[in-house]
Amino acid sequence: MSLARVQHFSVSLDGFATGEGQSLEAPFGHAGERLHTWMFDTRWGRAMLGKSGGTGGVDDAFLRLFAPGVGAEIMGAHKFGHPGWHQDPEWKGWWGPNPPFHTPVFVLTHHPRPSIEMEGGTTFHFLDASPADALKTAREAAAGQDVRIGGGPTVIRDFLAAGLVDHLHVVVVPILLGRGVRLWDGLEGLEQDYETEAVSTPSGVTHVTFARKGL
Ligand SMILES: NC(=O)c1ccc[n+]([C@@H]2O[C@H](COP(=O)([O-])OP(=O)(O)OC[C@H]3O[C@@H](n4cnc5c(N)ncnc54)[C@H](OP(=O)(O)O)[C@@H]3O)[C@@H](O)[C@H]2O)c1
Repeated sequence: MSLARVQHFSVSLDGFATGEGQSLEAPFGHAGERLHTWMFDTRWGRAMLGKSGGTGGVDDAFLRLFAPGVGAEIMGAHKFGHPGWHQDPEWKGWWGPNPPFHTPVFVLTHHPRPSIEMEGGTTFHFLDASPADALKTAREAAAGQDVRIGGGPTVIRDFLAAGLVDHLHVVVVPILLGRGVRLWDGLEGLEQDYETEAVSTPSGVTHVTFARKGL
């Protein structure tokens, strides 16, 4: 069965998944890199940056679940680009010529444009569609594999509210951002639909997994 899953989505202790004031210079606004230092300390995270070394423990093991079995990603317009990317016909995302997805990626936006084929198997498609319809389209593209719901928080919250997420992996980072975009608003009682587990690691983060009951 093709699952809809969220992988290693970082939130602060006060529930923010990005800071305030996102811009071309600051993709996470005033949060800077604070939500993701745990990731960039691992072997997987360092390899993504073209570096060697890093930790090889539980954080690294969780990160390695990112790609296996995933045949497509859905992301929001504000993960794909800075405010104003709609006005830039050359904008192709933050990730350079060979983005780390290596699958079709469906960008939810009210400003669709023609698809962009990148190196390494990533093609960005732009969709103005409901979460349920977007998931149907992504599932067809994934050809039986899972669909990653890649963020940001607005899109993940919408998919959770619509009951479309089968597996959610949240990484609670011990920082307080105070402002930004929250993940959990409007999702009261969400945990009742899921089996939840948590494990804290020496880096200081807590991995919380939500697996839909009855799957
Ligand atoms: N913490 C993490 O692990 C993590 C992971 C990924 C990203 N992020 C960060 O999260 C931030 C982005 O998150 P966000 O919550 O601001 O925005 P987002 O979820 O990336 O995108 C929301 C936007 O997508 C478009 N959209 C969403 N649903 C749509 C639909 N059904 N139909 C058409 N368009 C739709 C709308 O933009 P338009 O109306 O403008 O088209 C909407 O304002 C960035 O700072 C990114 O770096 C954090």
